Amino acid sequence: MNIEIFGSHAESGDAVTLMFRAEGAGWGIEDRELLGLMGVDPDAPFSGKAGRSKLCAGTGGLCLLVGLGKAEEVDADAFRTAVGVAVRAAASQELEGLAVDAAHLGRLGLDGDAAVECIVAALLAAYRFTAFKSDPGEADCPGRFAVVSADADIRARVDRAVAVAEGVRLARDLVNTPSNVATPEHLAGVARDLAAEFGFGVQVFGPEEIIGMGMGSFASVFRGSDTPARFIVLDSDPEGGRPLVFVGKGVTFDTGGISLKPSAKMHEMKGDMAGAAAILGLFRTLGRAGGGGRRVVGLLPCTENVPGSRATKPGDVVTAMNGKTVEILNTDAEGRLILADALAYSARYEPEILVDLATLTGACLVALGTKVAAVFATTAELDQRIREGGSRAGERYWPMPLWAEYGAPLKSDVADLKNIATREGGAIYAAMFLKNFVPEGVDWAHLDIAGPAWTDENASVFRPGGTGFGVRTLWELVGEYAEDGSELAL
Ligand code: BES
Ligand code: MN
Ligand code: ZN
Repeated sequence: MNIEIFGSHAESGDAVTLMFRAEGAGWGIEDRELLGLMGVDPDAPFSGKAGRSKLCAGTGGLCLLVGLGKAEEVDADAFRTAVGVAVRAAASQELEGLAVDAAHLGRLGLDGDAAVECIVAALLAAYRFTAFKSDPGEADCPGRFAVVSADADIRARVDRAVAVAEGVRLARDLVNTPSNVATPEHLAGVARDLAAEFGFGVQVFGPEEIIGMGMGSFASVFRGSDTPARFIVLDSDPEGGRPLVFVGKGVTFDTGGISLKPSAKMHEMKGDMAGAAAILGLFRTLGRAGGGGRRVVGLLPCTENVPGSRATKPGDVVTAMNGKTVEILNTDAEGRLILADALAYSARYEPEILVDLATLTGACLVALGTKVAAVFATTAELDQRIREGGSRAGERYWPMPLWAEYGAPLKSDVADLKNIATREGGAIYAAMFLKNFVPEGVDWAHLDIAGPAWTDENASVFRPGGTGFGVRTLWELVGEYAEDGSELAL
């Protein structure tokens, strides 16, 4: 789907004009004029119900009306859903192009920039993963999507939207790519390509180097695999000041290791690198759109978790980079083991903030379902920034506790820590485990994205498979801290 910009509807050719309406609402004066341009009767009946669309033929062109649902419930999520309806309706009606009027979108009363959101949502709704199809078949979206606006800054806004959507699409591609292709070295290749294209710093460490740096906790996970592990460091500005540091779980496949998982749905564990994928997606967006002068560092520990004759066995004890010893009682609690060393590694950057993203626990899925991620933050400010930034972007978070009481059950009889506690409260114990490796005094948040990283849904901005969850939250966070930076500079 090509994104186009036109100064007026007359220039948009035979693209079908796309308009949104809430249930029970009428058209305002400007929208009546717009319909008049197409010769469409503004009083033609249309319910505006969520999920509905209607193609209207006027004397001067076609118009696709899409419902937003109940007027009092119209928000950015309802709007994204409606954009998804529009893209799918256009495909099934074989419309070659859609054109949306930015001023019309502005009148919908949404927070934020509705034109930017519309393009992001359209590009995400149009996403398909066809890399492994010998015949990709027909596209499931119109060939072109035009924005009509006479605003001078429309090109910059559209570019920003495309940059965001590209980041999310990259993360989806990586999650959807099977583990025999999306290996740790494959992810390193993506990082190197991003660095070459946009001038980022990149370092890629292999198994010996990881062991050499003292990352015994990370190494315990890759021991069993013949597919070499990688520790990837991406840096948007190696000469810059104190960075925002983002750590992403990059388990390219999680069998559970010696503590083997049951086989039902195990294939979904190709997506156990969704945290790392979100950070690679963020760097794609940063590369295309800039980071507002904020230095961003991504730390991606990447490995498979498989059984084998050299694999870690339950009861084994390892030493992490910060010197803490860990008794591994369950090799399926591997995410926290690789994140522990990456969090400890972050100390050298003196991070402004440290945020990790991980498909960390099934317990989080049990607690919150698939629509929301858990946020565990050491400060109220970081918690708030993540939740607010996420909700602007359609990525929801719910706060979870880091209470000291939850630390004691992680004490081991033979080592400093054990990597599991009880089943009950499993998401909290995972977070409390990680807290032991966060450098002293650093504001930290852990985002458990096990639920929303993956979807079976084919609606709104979603297609079944990876969602790219996290890219947009991180992008919003970078924007907020970039603004802080410029305030400081004043
Ligand atoms: N990658 C899984 C968590 C997960 C489960 C993500 C389902 C997405 C969907 C993680 O490594 C894991 O296996 N966690 C265990 C921890 C347990 C052994 C303490 C879990 O949640 O069962
Ligand atoms: Mn696991
Ligand atoms: Zn895992």
